[in-house]
Amino acid sequence: MAGLVIANWKMHGSTAAVAEFVDQWNRLPPLGHVDTVICPPYPYLAAVADAMTGMVLGAQNCAEADQGAFTGEVSADMLADWGCRYVLVGHSERRSLYGEGDAQVAIKARRVTAAGIKAVVCVGETLDNRESGGHEAVVGRQLQASLAEVPAAELVVAYEPVWAIGTGRVATPEQADGMHAVIRAHLHEQYGDAGNDVPIVYGGSVKPENAAELFQCPNIDGALVGGASLDAGSFWQIASAMGAGRA
Ligand code: PGA
Repeated sequence: MAGLVIANWKMHGSTAAVAEFVDQWNRLPPLGHVDTVICPPYPYLAAVADAMTGMVLGAQNCAEADQGAFTGEVSADMLADWGCRYVLVGHSERRSLYGEGDAQVAIKARRVTAAGIKAVVCVGETLDNRESGGHEAVVGRQLQASLAEVPAAELVVAYEPVWAIGTGRVATPEQADGMHAVIRAHLHEQYGDAGNDVPIVYGGSVKPENAAELFQCPNIDGALVGGASLDAGSFWQIASAMGAGRA
């Protein structure tokens, strides 16, 4: 499979910043052997969709409901209608800051895949979980609870150890690859051979400086990039490292 590198801009950006990113991105050479997805805040989806070349559109979240009186919410169907092909579900910031649990993550993932687009289901342990040795069990439980009725063909799993997100403390290639192998085994158990084709991407302080080393790991199919995705050049370098690993 081609590599998959996803930009998660979180709540960053402005019209001017988007224009600058797009201008820089469109001047960079085309990439091979890697799919790039950009998840800007909702108000900038249109600007990104209209202007960027070689980039697939994604969103950072969606509603649990499909439509109705849910002020402030945006449904998966609306995002698909708008041209999004991926939606992040269960990012650790949604889980920790907005109290989203596995049951909600499961509903959202089903909504996204029912809309005919891909759910990027985010899982990952806290520092306490890792230090107590419970990290594999935690991630296993998150997968177990989140993936019911989610078809393998519309699924991406993002492994993001909470202690590595936005901290500059990246998981070692061994830590990331080891957990990806555990996730792959879980996917195989749930989906059979179709589980082997589900991309598993790593997230947590991925930067141009550490990307190549991570992407050499056999179980890492790409990255979910936060901070370093705000700069077109940095994001391109990360995606390029992924493409080189898949060439
Ligand atoms: P980071 O964020 O790359 O800034 O650590 C990753 C994420 O939260 O998806």
